Amino acid sequence: MISMTDGAKPLRVGVVGLGVMGKNHARVLDELPGVTLVGVADPDGVQVEFVTSRLGCAGFSTLDALMDAGIDALTIAAPTQLHTQIALQAIARGIHVLIEKPIAQTVEDGQRILDAASRAGLTLMVGHVERFNPAVQSIKQALAGEDILSIQITRVGPFPPRMSDIGVVIDLAVHDIDLIRWFTGSEIQDIQPQTNSIHAAREDIALLQFRTVSGVLAHINTNWLTPFKARTVHVATRNKYITGDLITRQVTECFDYKPDGSYSMRHLSVAYAEPLRAELVAFIDAVRTGKAPAVLGTDGLASLDIAMRCLGDRGQSAPKLAAAGE
Ligand SMILES: NC(=O)c1ccc[n+]([C@@H]2O[C@H](COP(=O)([O-])OP(=O)(O)OC[C@H]3O[C@@H](n4cnc5c(N)ncnc54)[C@H](O)[C@@H]3O)[C@@H](O)[C@H]2O)c1
Repeated sequence: MISMTDGAKPLRVGVVGLGVMGKNHARVLDELPGVTLVGVADPDGVQVEFVTSRLGCAGFSTLDALMDAGIDALTIAAPTQLHTQIALQAIARGIHVLIEKPIAQTVEDGQRILDAASRAGLTLMVGHVERFNPAVQSIKQALAGEDILSIQITRVGPFPPRMSDIGVVIDLAVHDIDLIRWFTGSEIQDIQPQTNSIHAAREDIALLQFRTVSGVLAHINTNWLTPFKARTVHVATRNKYITGDLITRQVTECFDYKPDGSYSMRHLSVAYAEPLRAELVAFIDAVRTGKAPAVLGTDGLASLDIAMRCLGDRGQSAPKLAAAGE
């Protein structure tokens, strides 16, 4: 385990699960200063070969072998059904963890991870990467000191190439549930969900309506039935109307409303940054300093809980997969 006194030593990090997300985790970690990407693990040898041949790190077929190589921190990008098992194994060996969203398959499992990390005094961060999107950060800044009235988020697109047994609420809306909680700094209290399954076994279209404890009204429009990808955020405050496109990263605010109906408008500055890089920098920083990470385990758990409540259940019936090393 890294301590706060050995800040000069590179942090030894591993990645487990080398699909779409895990490959990107490995690529970014390999480039980060102060970090040594020790190795990666995936039972699929093709994925391991793909990453190790490009990055020159060690490759393993099991999580245990990766942990035996000696790592301080692990990013978990295996399928969601495996997050709990993998996180608990890593925590038991004193390894800090970043877990891709959603934190776990059930709220109960997520709570077990939180409890284990807290007992062990280890950093636990959840990969709600959208918080690190520069457009989202610009919106968050524009909301400072504002009295938020409503938030409307659209996250739609075509069906993903490979369908899993997870629907749009857990896969997509969980990002926006997290954003609503983060923007408002308040918990979601009232939930009015509408979901439907048009082509998939699980819900592939959802309109979710919320009210936060602080009184903000929020709405999420998400589906896999739209031929193009769109991610937009609209926020009404008492003094401003902010619109953000999370893909083109354009953020605009209208303000200074006049009695004659006129108002002012300006584009807000948006930094250029790769969200995943910013997320991993925040994780490494939390591990090094021992400070609370940018996205807490409790954030990941609260967002999963709301998503589950939108589905009217607190667990899922997806079959359990075996974790690497079993
Ligand atoms: N933050 C985001 O925006 C975002 C986007 C996509 C996915 N995700 C999350 O990332 C995680 C992975 O998603 P993905 O789209 O990369 O999945 P994927 O299906 O592309 O990849 C999963 C990988 O895990 C590997 N795997 C299977 N069993 C394993 C085991 N026992 N041990 C280790 N690895 C194993 C598979 O071989 C595969 O390479 C999921 O939790 C998902 O919800 C997050």
